[in-house]
Amino acid sequence: MSIKNNQPDWDKIAEKFDVWLPHIAPVGEVLLAALDAKPGERILDLASGTGEPALTLARRLKGHANILGIDTADGMVRVAQAKVVKERLTGISFRCMPAEQLTLEDNTFDRVLCRFGVMLFTDPLQGLKEMHRVLKPGGRFALAVWSTPETMPTLHWAYETFKSRLPEDLHPPLAKVTSMGAPGLLQDLLNEAGFSGFSVEPRAFNYQFRSFDDFWDTVEASDILKQQYDALPQSERGKIRDEVGRFARDFIHDGQLRIPHEYLVAAGSK
Ligand SMILES: C[S@@+](CC[C@H](N)C(=O)[O-])C[C@H]1O[C@@H](n2cnc3c(N)ncnc32)[C@H](O)[C@@H]1O
Repeated sequence: MSIKNNQPDWDKIAEKFDVWLPHIAPVGEVLLAALDAKPGERILDLASGTGEPALTLARRLKGHANILGIDTADGMVRVAQAKVVKERLTGISFRCMPAEQLTLEDNTFDRVLCRFGVMLFTDPLQGLKEMHRVLKPGGRFALAVWSTPETMPTLHWAYETFKSRLPEDLHPPLAKVTSMGAPGLLQDLLNEAGFSGFSVEPRAFNYQFRSFDDFWDTVEASDILKQQYDALPQSERGKIRDEVGRFARDFIHDGQLRIPHEYLVAAGSK
């Protein structure tokens, strides 16, 4: 069964995506540790969005970076490239390119990474095959995908809240975003893509906010649910915040909202 790829319009929301970066930074740290990149190595960041984790790596390599980030959304690429210019970073650039069809030579990258991209690809297996093709023999990769629907509470809450109000093709993209989370699936795809020496490990971290209002302000500021909001009649829009707030109640501890999220990290070599 094919999964509807109704992900947000990344091109349109590119300028607003960065409000999420502090919240997913721990995942970037796990990937960079697994990648273990050295100065001067040629590194590819797939689905690099507004530039992470590639930019963090470039800053750490201090003038010895050799990094390319690619993404299908022009807007995301522009935001990432603007950061390179603003910070006068060298040895890093971003280009518009689909992960499934890299216009890059075989066996040319020492390292490939991808944070929360693979499950969104139109064809994840083809994206992994391309990742394998461009890696040098012995080169390393590290990638993160979201786990199962019930372990991704924020999107799950949105899905439950919107689903009875909208036709299926406008539901929040819970199925697509968690499409790599089923036990064994990522392992099978990596094997089929040509990888043999790798591990897939479950990991967890918290989205942390000062309050539910703080969380909801972030959701609204990022326009991540814009398609869903725009499709609702005016009379329904005001109800969404309160209904999601009811789900969030159980996650308020000591006045803070802490929402656990699970993901999978795959790392290994060609
Ligand atoms: C959740 S964002 C992650 C961005 C960044 N890696 C990060 O962690 O901050 C997902 C990104 O995947 C990109 N994307 C989706 N499908 C893609 C594809 N087939 N090839 C390349 N990029 C893709 C989107 O445009 C979006 O920028």
